[in-house]
Formats: sequence, structure tokens, C-alpha cells
Amino acid sequence: MSAATRSSSPHRVAIELGDRSYPIDVGAGLLGDAATWSSTPAATCALIVTNDTVAPLYGERLAAMLRQRYRDVHTVVLPDGEEHKDWQTLNRIFDALLQHGCDRKTVLFALGGGVVGDMAGFAAASYMRGVPFVQVPTTLLAQVDSSVGGKTAINHPLGKNMIGAFYQPRQVICDLDTLQTLPARELSAGLAEVIKYGPISDLEFLSWIEANVDALMAREPAALSHAVVRSCEIKAWVVGQDERESGLRAILNFGHTFGHAIEAGLGYGEWLHGEAVGCGMVMAARLSQRLGGVDESFVERLTTLIRRAGLPVQGPQLGAARYLELMRVDKKAEAGEIRFVVIDRPGHATVRGAPDALVREVIEQCCRQ
Ligand code: NAD
Ligand code: GLY
Repeated sequence: MSAATRSSSPHRVAIELGDRSYPIDVGAGLLGDAATWSSTPAATCALIVTNDTVAPLYGERLAAMLRQRYRDVHTVVLPDGEEHKDWQTLNRIFDALLQHGCDRKTVLFALGGGVVGDMAGFAAASYMRGVPFVQVPTTLLAQVDSSVGGKTAINHPLGKNMIGAFYQPRQVICDLDTLQTLPARELSAGLAEVIKYGPISDLEFLSWIEANVDALMAREPAALSHAVVRSCEIKAWVVGQDERESGLRAILNFGHTFGHAIEAGLGYGEWLHGEAVGCGMVMAARLSQRLGGVDESFVERLTTLIRRAGLPVQGPQLGAARYLELMRVDKKAEAGEIRFVVIDRPGHATVRGAPDALVREVIEQCCRQ
């Protein structure tokens, strides 16, 4: 598709970070539109980092576009799955860069979901002490969250996303058409991160999601477009205030403290990240209610929405002691104290500790059969 036949101009959201500012373009048909790629960083060499699910769907389309801009275009295809978000798989990106003789101007293109994006970003942060990279997210979760804001990481068997770096992409390109091939379970997982923005910062958006969740599940383009754009606007605003999570940015982890414990406790890949976050938000909302920030009806409202989005609302029975043990490894923990993102009033979040006994009660309540 040429620029002239593109269905409409992409919607542009700006991330304002001084000399690390960059645009997020959201629209249909962007992948195959030469105009999309005309302002990516100049270089001789480009490396597409993708996985064995996404490569057959979109790999060649992207490579064909990039060949118009870069002399050498290479692709490294990683094994698909959260369980491969590790050192061994990361090293395959470095192997490819070195085997192809890629220099320090080489541009990495992360084509895929959050797993590919987090790994390609970490590789870009460290190859030759830093090369430019562009995020081309193809899951809803990656378009509304992981491709934006510069968090990059791999997992460690003892904790999720424990090894990584803050490293901003030069550009984010969200082609909404790619969401049409996403499995339904993955679409729901992405909706968890969309829903997250409502209770922590935007009640109007929460109401909009409630009114449009069926349209989102049916992948109606206008609904998907609004969800991605509004999510990126909120994330861009938060990251613009607190890029390295010294305070405010932590609110984006609403539901993640419980969620990460679910992921690690069950084994990475058993529940999807978004599923764990969805259920984790129910647990975090319940904790918020027990701490006086919201009332019962707010917890029920959020739980109903999460359920309607096709996400689990009851935690796996890992046992409260195991949850607590896993949550102590969370990056927000300070001096062994677990810190939770809680809603202190509807539409507003804060980060605080909570008594273990109360957290145990919440876990037992939310994981009951
Ligand atoms: P994912 O990357 O595993 O992708 C989900 C699945 O969808 C995979 O099987 C993938 O191959 C497939 N897929 C991707 N695009 C597709 C398409 N268009 N059509 C068909 N299949 C497609 O998972 P995810 O949910 O995108 O990302 C989760 C990861 O993101 C986790 O590792 C999480 O820690 C990370 N994350 C990072 C941040 C951040 O700020 N860096 C934020 C949130 C989540
Ligand atoms: N996904 C949480 C963050 O980017 O801070």
C-alpha cells in the first residue's frame, strides 16, 4: 500500500522526553506503507527481531519495506513464548548481530508482542553499548503498553523482568490491522492492560471501555483505535513525568504485584501475562477496598469488566505464603517490604505497603474455590 492509498493518516501520540522524545503512530495499513518507514533512523544495516509465530505473518512485509531504506536487512527469528524470555534466547540476537557484522548504527526492529519487544530493546540497549531500535508491536498488549516507555528486560528463574534496562525506542509503529490475526486469548490479555488505565487515572476511559468491551472483543477497528490511542496517551503522560519510575510510573503496575506472583508461581507461560494482570487487578482492587480507598461496588464493577473481557478473576491456589514469598522479589519491594499499587480513590492510585495479615486475607478471599 502506498502513502496515497493508505486508509487514513495515522494518529500520532508524542512521548516527551527531551532528546529521547519519540512518536507513537497508530493506524491501519501502516506496515505495508512506505511512508511509515521514511523517517526511521538512518543506517546501512537493519535487523528485524521477531519470533516463529509472527515471522510468517508479517516478517517479509516488513523486510520488503525496510529494503527500500537499508542496504542490508537481516532477520533473527526467536522461539515464541514467555518461557524463552531469557539469556539464552537474548544471546541469539547478539549472535545474529555479530555474525552479520552489524555496526553500531544498526537499527533493530522489534516485530511482535511484548516478549520480542522487551528482548529486542534490551539487546539494543547493550549491543555495542547501545544501538537505535524501533518498536513494531503486533499484540494489543504491546501496542497499549510494553512497546511504549522504554522498559526492556528478560526474566530470571527467581523473578520476572529482573534483568533489564531503561532504553527508549526511536519510534513506535502500531499497525492496528495486525490485531486481526491475534488469538482471542491474547486479545483478552491485551485488554487487561487497557482496563488498567481506567481505575488508576481516567474514570471516563473506564466508562468508555465498559460501553465498548464487546466491540473491542469483536475487534471493531474504531474501538481498537480509540483504545490504543487513549492508552498510549495516558502512558505517554505518565512516562513523560517519571521515565525511570522514581514515583508516579509505578501506578502503571496496578495488578502486577499479584500478577507477577501468579506468573512466577505457576511457571512462566502457564497463564498469559495479561491474564495474570487481569486477576491481579481484582486482588489489588480488593486490597484497595480493605484499605478504604474504594467501596465494594467499585471492586464489583472492575471485576465484572475484567470477566467480560474474557479474563480470569479468581487467583490460582498457590497458598498465601507462596504469594507473599514471590511478591517479596517484586522490583517495588523495599527492604523486604512488599509495596502495592492501590486505588486510594476511584481514578487515582498510590503505592504503599500493607500488613501481611491483611494481604493474606485478600489472597484467601480472591483465591477461594
Ligand atoms: P507475547 O509477546 O508472548 O505475544 C503473545 C502471543 O501472540 C505470542 O504467541 C506471539 O507470537 C503472538 N503474536 C504476536 N503478534 C501476533 C499477531 N499479530 N497475530 C498472531 N499472533 C501474534 O505477549 P504479549 O502479551 O504481547 O507481551 C507480554 C510480555 O510483555 C511479557 O513478557 C511482559 O512482561 C511484557 N510487558 C512489558 C512491558 C514493558 O513496559 N516493557 C509492559 C507490559 C508487559
Ligand atoms: N508496564 C509498566 C510500565 O511501563 O511502567
